[in-house]
Amino acid sequence: YLPQQESPFPISLLSSSWCCSCSGGSTLTGRSSVTHYKQYPPNTTKVYSYFECREKKTESSKSWKVKYDTTVFYGLQYILHKYLKGKVVTLAKIQEAKEVYREHFQDDVFNEKGWKYILEKYDGHLPIEIKAVPEGSVIPRGNVLFTVESTDPECYWLTNWVETILVQVWYPITVATNSREQKKILARYLLETSGNLDKLEYKLHDFGYRGVSSQETAGIGASAHLVNFKGTDTVAGIGVIKKYYGTKDPVPGYSVPAAEHSTITAWGKDHERDAFEHIVRQFPKVPVSIVSDSYDIFNACEKIWGEDLRSLIELRSADAPLIIRPDSGDPLDTVLKVLEILGKKFTTTENCKGYKVLPPYLRVIQGDGVDINTLQNIVEGMKKHRWSVENVSFGSGGALLQKLTRDLLSCCFKCSFVVTNGLGLNVFKDPVADPNKRSKKGRLSLHRTSTGDFQTLEEGKGDLEKYGPDLLRTVFRNGLITKTYTFDEVRDNAKIRNCDVEEFVN
Ligand SMILES: *[C@@H]1O[C@H](CO)[C@@H](O)[C@H](O)[C@H]1NC(C)=O
Ligand SMILES: *[C@@H]1O[C@H](CO)[C@@H](O)[C@H](O)[C@H]1NC(C)=O
Repeated sequence: YLPQQESPFPISLLSSSWCCSCSGGSTLTGRSSVTHYKQYPPNTTKVYSYFECREKKTESSKSWKVKYDTTVFYGLQYILHKYLKGKVVTLAKIQEAKEVYREHFQDDVFNEKGWKYILEKYDGHLPIEIKAVPEGSVIPRGNVLFTVESTDPECYWLTNWVETILVQVWYPITVATNSREQKKILARYLLETSGNLDKLEYKLHDFGYRGVSSQETAGIGASAHLVNFKGTDTVAGIGVIKKYYGTKDPVPGYSVPAAEHSTITAWGKDHERDAFEHIVRQFPKVPVSIVSDSYDIFNACEKIWGEDLRSLIELRSADAPLIIRPDSGDPLDTVLKVLEILGKKFTTTENCKGYKVLPPYLRVIQGDGVDINTLQNIVEGMKKHRWSVENVSFGSGGALLQKLTRDLLSCCFKCSFVVTNGLGLNVFKDPVADPNKRSKKGRLSLHRTSTGDFQTLEEGKGDLEKYGPDLLRTVFRNGLITKTYTFDEVRDNAKIRNCDVEEFVN
């Protein structure tokens, strides 16, 4: 499956870089790369830049508990297809940009000549080459993930002009990475408390649709979570995956019928029991999740589920369980208390690892207050109280898709090589006040040594025997996408390995 449709919203020439680049700041208005073409050394004919998630060498004080030593590379393919491929420069866009920038900068600084050159010589296709690691690759921080270079000496300035749109890949990378770290936590506890990894992919459900900033964020973020899991209510992610990656399955993510507070409270405070019964009867053959904290989660578990409706629930099967959903209170305390009550009202059994499990027709999903740190606390607390993680799952929303910034993984784009007057020059920055911000030099390649370690080298500097071939592949050249990955390949590249689970089990 190769997504070949025209970019629906081709990049506007108005979306230019507002971040640092080779040339440093513009004296005009901060750091818009609209004006950078005038700032490179005269006779520059090539600019080469790279993207990495920088290693944190010095620990920040308010650091997350999780270190995020590796990152999942995901989402560049979406950006290339949606914004960069094909004819993205037109006369109308040049005209519009020229007028807006004249007002914006109060000067004629827009590179009209440069854009017209691209329009005429390349029919509006961008003369740049992008090389990237395969989508889904799990790469240690501090390594090159993709490189960008101009392919026409006249268009040296284009490399850092596309920086802004390309660096937005920080978001799918960060969502996929954070979600994968949560998968590692769940895998560790699932294995310890049940002896297998069955249904791991359904243990962390995406509840984030309403908590994200836009439809586009929902689509990209949800697709990034689906790199690791298969449960989602953010259906926008399914569209993104089908359109820009493709899967062998009809859909890459699944869900179950679920109650929300309105469908319970609309029955009135004295009729929660009737609401529960009605909804359970509506969905006899599929799993059904029922939010049970509208008034008193503990009473709901003990009296309504545990007594009034108990015989109705006992008729359900392992394929169509009732999933009780607490939605308030301290996540760990609530989960433990709910399990304790349900354990007393319904029978529990002990699995092969000696942990308690609820009967097959009953499960619990905790979807409130779940982020990577509380998740760790809850599963650790369950383990301490001898509950298996196998019959509990989690939902996460804002923390999964929105409560993340580019700083979490220090994603950045830096110039490392230029050609001026025919001479190649390795360039870098090394700010005296922050050694973490030192950048790499030269043209770069990424290698996996025979011991399995990843290493970024200056291109051509590595002995092929020792370092193996360059893992960076050309994915974009002069307006054409030259390599794509299916979502199945992405998932396979990002899958949890034995060592990811073992590193916890000790
Ligand atoms: C740029 O190239 C031209 C033509 O080769 C040369 O005459 C000029 O000195 C160069 N400028 C600089 C600043 O190197
Ligand atoms: C627990 O969950 C697993 C995985 O969803 C399921 O196959 C199994 O039947 C459940 N076991 C019990 C005892 O509920």
